[in-house]
Amino acid sequence: MFALPPLPYADDALSPAISARTLQFHHGKHHAGYLKALNALLDAEGGPTEPLEAVMARAAGDENAKLYNNAAQAWNHSLFWISMSPDGVAPGGELGEAIAASFAGFDGLRAAFVAEGAAHFGSGWLWLAVNPAGGLVVQATHDARGLPGRLNLAPLLICDLWEHAYYLDHQNDRKTFLESWFDTLANWPFAAVQLAAARGEGMAWRHPAPTDRDAGAARALAKSKRQVAA
Ligand SMILES: [Fe+2]
Repeated sequence: MFALPPLPYADDALSPAISARTLQFHHGKHHAGYLKALNALLDAEGGPTEPLEAVMARAAGDENAKLYNNAAQAWNHSLFWISMSPDGVAPGGELGEAIAASFAGFDGLRAAFVAEGAAHFGSGWLWLAVNPAGGLVVQATHDARGLPGRLNLAPLLICDLWEHAYYLDHQNDRKTFLESWFDTLANWPFAAVQLAAARGEGMAWRHPAPTDRDAGAARALAKSKRQVAA
């Protein structure tokens, strides 16, 4: 099964942009719920035998909306927790240079990020990503839709645009949530690692592997043998 990854900070560490109450519901109910549904769907197939990235790619190709949606929501939320940090470290180095080149500076990136997220219709995700040419882009996607395997963009940061991410703290004011998120929570050191990986230096973030992968593989093998025997 895919386990709920622990938060890398205390429940109240992201306040006031995200309160402890929002974080507890978001992580312990919403994210846990997507993982529970994902694990149930994979159990019905014989258990998880692949990385989550492979599940997403397979489900998207099959247009299996239920499996894709739960897999992508599980993946996106795990990346979302790491995309935030209460440490307040500003971007520098190659990331700072890339921001300057792509957005005419940090203020330009902030304006593009907030505008794209505030204007997005309905639920979804907001991404800071790098394109194959090395340029940074801000891109929103609808509902569970992710970037990996799509749009040819590699993610640096992700922000949740679903109302459950901000409604308890900011009600319908998504713009204020995005400004507060960008100003106080964006994890720029993590984005720098992701950018380096996209440029061939080190590994990009991957979702934690299923905790009982061997057991899942054994169940899948037994299931295939039963099908062959039948
Ligand atoms: Fe969420």
